[in-house]
Amino acid sequence: MAPIVTPMTGTVGAEITGADVRNDAHWPIIRQAFVDHSVITIRAQDITPDDHLAFARRWGDINVNRFFKALDTHPNVAVVLKEADQTTAIGEMWHTDHSYDTAPAMCSILHAIELPAYGGDTCFSSQYAAYNALSDPMKTFLGGLSAWHSSRHAFGAATLDHEQAKGGRLNNQENATQDALHPVVITHPLSGRKALYVNPDFTTHIEGLAKAESTALLSFLYTHCQNPDYQCRVRWQQDDITMWDNRALWHKAINDYAGHRRYMHRVTVEGSVLNR
Ligand code: SIN
Repeated sequence: MAPIVTPMTGTVGAEITGADVRNDAHWPIIRQAFVDHSVITIRAQDITPDDHLAFARRWGDINVNRFFKALDTHPNVAVVLKEADQTTAIGEMWHTDHSYDTAPAMCSILHAIELPAYGGDTCFSSQYAAYNALSDPMKTFLGGLSAWHSSRHAFGAATLDHEQAKGGRLNNQENATQDALHPVVITHPLSGRKALYVNPDFTTHIEGLAKAESTALLSFLYTHCQNPDYQCRVRWQQDDITMWDNRALWHKAINDYAGHRRYMHRVTVEGSVLNR
């Protein structure tokens, strides 16, 4: 039986059932669904970390996250964990993975190992849709701008006393030295479509604008991009894989399962320098 691809909304996201990420015959369907929908949830993947990595390698080379705790057995598989007694979730602010890198990761692939009894969803916002909804003069203005992104404030020494660093979920604070300048509007390397590329977690300021101008413009864009019309929400089931396109989306882990454990494995795939 061929996999079935069902859109989650009219804008972004699709669920795939009847697929096996290890099956070569399913690969073209999964690939096309990813290109078309930007985030896909492939249900019921009872796979090992080696299978997870093999699936990721279909997309490109593995990009090892410098800050996340990794599996002892697989240093290129990151652990996304919140214990029952912890209060903060990794990735609970809207963000785009690795935007602080010069060539940000193309996609992230998250595998649900242990889910809370309820909650713990992940939300996604289409930055194609957010861009398309802007007026033509605003698109023209943004099209000439670039913005700085940084890992320092999010993963650096200033975070050493945060729960996630103290609990060992985030490491290597001394390596948080990446700053990168990207266009505010990118042309997506796969689809050729325009997308906004700033995010509340890692973008620090817009190059060349006065501080107050940069803050006001980013604040407008962040409010605009949080419109639910551009979003979908993944309600996880055991063994799901959700993979998302970091050049086309923001995402946010919903932290609404106090007292429960949530444990995921994440692999990220190398991307490329982003152009206007
Ligand atoms: C992440 O930001 O990579 C984690 C998302 C999630 O745990 O839902």
